[in-house]
Order: sequence, then C-alpha cells, then structure tokens
Amino acid sequence: MTDHILVECRDAVQIIRLNRPEKKNAITRAMYAAMATALAEGDCDEAVRCHAIFGAPEAFSAGNDLADFLAVATGGEGGEEVFDFLLALAGCRKPVVSGVDGIAVGIGTTINLHCDLTFATPETVFRTPFVDLGLVPEAGSSLLAPRVLGPQRAFALLALGEALDAEAALAAGLIHRIVDASSLEKTALSAARALAAKPPEALQITRDLLRGPRDEVFARIREEGEHFRARLKSDEARAAFTAFMNRKRDGA
Ligand code: COA
Repeated sequence: MTDHILVECRDAVQIIRLNRPEKKNAITRAMYAAMATALAEGDCDEAVRCHAIFGAPEAFSAGNDLADFLAVATGGEGGEEVFDFLLALAGCRKPVVSGVDGIAVGIGTTINLHCDLTFATPETVFRTPFVDLGLVPEAGSSLLAPRVLGPQRAFALLALGEALDAEAALAAGLIHRIVDASSLEKTALSAARALAAKPPEALQITRDLLRGPRDEVFARIREEGEHFRARLKSDEARAAFTAFMNRKRDGA
C-alpha cells in the first residue's frame, strides 16, 4: 500500500493519480504495484468504463525513482512491479486517457504511448534520457515510438535524448490536444466520461482494431526489460545514478 498513488472512481471513470509531488512524481516500486493493481481491478470492474491517469501540477512524472535504480545498480534486487504495471497498461481492456502537465521524463513520457488520448499543457516537456543514463528504452517504446512519431523523431527522443515540448508532441502525434493547466483535468475527464458513456462492446472492438495485436508489444516490453535489467548493473548506469544523487551535494 502506498499513498503515493490515489485511486478513485467517478462517473464510470477510474482516476489513477500519481501523488508524490515532493519528488516530482518519481515512481517507486510500490507506486508501480499500486497502479498495476488499479488497472487490473478497474478492468474487471463493471462500474469502470475508462481509466484516466494524472500526475501533479507541473510534474506528471520525473520517471522511475533513481534511488530505486541505484539500489539495483549496487547489488539490490530489481523486482517485477514495473513489468506488472507495463503489462497491465499495454494489455488494458478499457480506454486510457492521460492528462500531463510539466515534467514528463522517462516512463512519464512512455506511459503515454499506451494511452488512447493524451491531453497536455503548454508547459509540458517530454524527455527520455535513457541512453544518457546508460539505459535503453522501455515500456515498448522502441516499438511504439517509431510507429507514432516516425523513425527519425523516435530516434531523436529515445537515443539522442531530445526533448519534445507540447507543440512538438502534438505535431508528432504523441498527444491529442494542448489545454491550459487550469482546464487540463476537466477536459481530460470530459473525454474519459464521453468514452465511458459509449456502447462498451462497440468501443472495445474499435479500440482493439485500432491498437492491433498486443503480443508483439508484450514481447518488446520483455525484450527491452532483459536489456534494461542488465544495463542497470552497468558501470555507465551506476555512474549516472550516482551523479544524480550527488548533484546537490556537489553543487551541480
Ligand atoms: N528519482 C528520484 N528522485 C527524483 C527524481 C527521480 N527520477 N526526479 C526528481 N527527484 C527528486 C529530487 O532528487 C529532489 O529531491 P530532494 O528535494 O529530496 O533533493 C526532488 O525530486 C525535486 O527534484 P529537483 O531536481 O530539485 O527538481 P527540478 O525541478 O530542479 O528538476 C527534474 C526536475 C525532473 C528535471 C530533475 O529532478 C531530474 O532530472 N530528475 C531525474 C529524471 C530522470 O532521469 N528520470 C529517470 C528517467 S529513466
């Protein structure tokens, strides 16, 4: 149990809210576990017709908790929570809407490749510094990002580490609309409620057709995961995590 993930159901929409603003919504193992459970339970609950994922104002998520990464890099156990979450998200049977404001780093960006509609504010910046951290893409992003963004923009995002602001993300097809921060949640929830009110069987078949077979997405998540786990223990990654942890002490 963690109070860093808040879950509620409103008007047939299950709202999953990342609630760790003091750490810019960096995601811990307990948070992945809570989100995986919420998605699985919401998918089985007839009262839920749509999922909605939100972060905090100015911080959708700073990505995986780097202290958790450092623990693995220095000999600790990794845990399966992140994969449980990713497989639950990728395999989710009901539509997923996200509302993103501000920081969206790493998995804070790649989550949205699995969402059916993403709304973002003008202040949002998507960034995936995997390679700079000695890591590789995750969440099936090496498969999905080239499809969504095209190969060049996907490479710039995932390999070069180039940021995408909201306008660029909209032009690239990563998000559906840009809305002011003051109306982000209202707009995203209104879309989620509209989806929740549709005939569910017709919506589900339509969504399945649009998303295509999931097997290759699951397979890619697992393939990336093999590399990711190995990379977490690499000298490159250990050095990057340690530098982040020490940056304030070192005045960086
Ligand atoms: N893991 C763990 N803690 C994190 C974190 C992360 N991914 N991102 C931010 N935090 C913590 C900071 O350590 C800081 O904690 P402290 O106040 O106890 O020192 C707090 O959140 C606020 O972050 P701070 O860096 O002061 O905010 P900022 O607005 O100056 O910068 C970021 C925000 C997101 C640009 C910066 O924190 C960052 O680069 N984070 C790492 C992002 C990352 O590489 N994620 C992994 C991707 S795979």
